[in-house]
Amino acid sequence: MMVIGKPFLTVEQIQNRVRELASKISDDFSGKEIVAVGILRGAFMFFPDIVRHINVPMKIDFLIASSYVKSQTTGKIAIFADIREDIKGKNVILFEDIVDTGLTLKYIYDMLLSREPASLKICTFLDKKARRKVDLNIDYIGFDIPDHYVVGYGLDFEGRFRNLPYISIFKERI
Ligand code: IMP
Repeated sequence: MMVIGKPFLTVEQIQNRVRELASKISDDFSGKEIVAVGILRGAFMFFPDIVRHINVPMKIDFLIASSYVKSQTTGKIAIFADIREDIKGKNVILFEDIVDTGLTLKYIYDMLLSREPASLKICTFLDKKARRKVDLNIDYIGFDIPDHYVVGYGLDFEGRFRNLPYISIFKERI
C-alpha cells in the first residue's frame, strides 16, 4: 500500500501530547537550565513545537545524523554535524522523531555521554518498541506505535512527506 491515508495521529492529538510532554519536562527540570538538542532532520517539526512550551531556561543546539538509506537500516550511523555547545556538567535532553531499532540514538547517546554532561535524557516523539535492537532508556515518549512505517510531522519516506502536519501510515511494514 503506497497511499497516504487519513491521519494515524491528527494535528490535534500531536499538539496536545506535545504540550503534555513539555509540561512534564518543565516540572522535572524546574529550577535548572537545560541544553535541548534537536536531532535532524527528523525532529525538525517536533523540536520547535515542544521547546516553545518548555518553560525552563535553555540553550538550543542541533545534531544532524542519518542511519537510513532508502528506509532500510544499514547499521551505519553518520554524524553530519555535531552540536556546538560544550555540554560538560550540563543537563542535556535529546529530541528525536522516532526510535526504531534504537541504533541511531544509542550511538548519539554514548557519544554525548562521554562528554560528561550532568544528566542526559532522551525525548522521542514516537517509539516503535517492537523493533528495538539495543537497550536504550527513553525518558519521555510522545506515542508508542506499532510496527508500521509512518510519515509526516518530520518523518520521511525517501526524503518526502516530512511537511505533513500529521502522522500517516505509509506502509504496513517496511
Ligand atoms: P533507528 O536507528 O532504527 O532507531 O532509526 C531511527 C531513525 O530511522 C529515525 O530517526 C528516522 O529517521 C528513521 N525511521 C525509523 N522508522 C521510521 C518510520 O516509520 N518512518 C520514517 N522514518 C523512520
